[in-house]
Amino acid sequence: MINIALPKGRLGDQVYEMLAGAGYECEAYKDKDRKLIVESEEKGVRYLMVKPGDVAVYVEHHAADVGIVGKDIIMETRPDVYELMDLGIGKCRMCVAAPKGYTEDPDRTLRVATKYVNVAKDHYLEKNRDIEIIKLNGSIELGPILGLSDVIVDIVETGNTLKANDLEIIEDFKPISARFIANKTSFKFYSDEINRMAKALREVKAG
Ligand code: PRP
Repeated sequence: MINIALPKGRLGDQVYEMLAGAGYECEAYKDKDRKLIVESEEKGVRYLMVKPGDVAVYVEHHAADVGIVGKDIIMETRPDVYELMDLGIGKCRMCVAAPKGYTEDPDRTLRVATKYVNVAKDHYLEKNRDIEIIKLNGSIELGPILGLSDVIVDIVETGNTLKANDLEIIEDFKPISARFIANKTSFKFYSDEINRMAKALREVKAG
């Protein structure tokens, strides 16, 4: 059995559709039940339903052989896994955003609210900009509204959340999409199965 870690939530909907198209239908999702592990004996696959941010943790620690995870999480956590392919779904951008009309004071330390601490640090290190990170776990857009931070570093998909909170993108610095990843040991021992899955996913992607 190949264990595959799948993200619950927004990205999950697109992932399940793509897997179904590739011949790896996941019954648990259709039932929308609370089961966290589902097996398909016929396909030889066990599906693990996990938080999007935990997919790479399961794969790196060999609790799952493969997984589907956003590039944002890979950039942030830098897991020691193989990134086998870009699935072309879950597309969004990593951005810096600020309240409309914001102008930066280059002489002051920039206060950055984000859940992507490493991504934000790397981004500003490259620009040699002095920053203070304020780590939040969600609803990042509240940071500048309440004066907690000057800007935010976050993913933007439709832009609706920014718009609804009177924020705008001031830098769009990295396109993000979902990736098919594999545990390094699993890839050695189950290369046929994993390559078969990757090939089927590639065919769905190509349309
Ligand atoms: C993400 C992100 C933004 C929002 C962007 O949050 O942090 O808040 O989606 O999407 P949009 O451009 O389509 O509006 P998520 O929904 O994952 O929830 P969170 O605030 O709990 O992180």
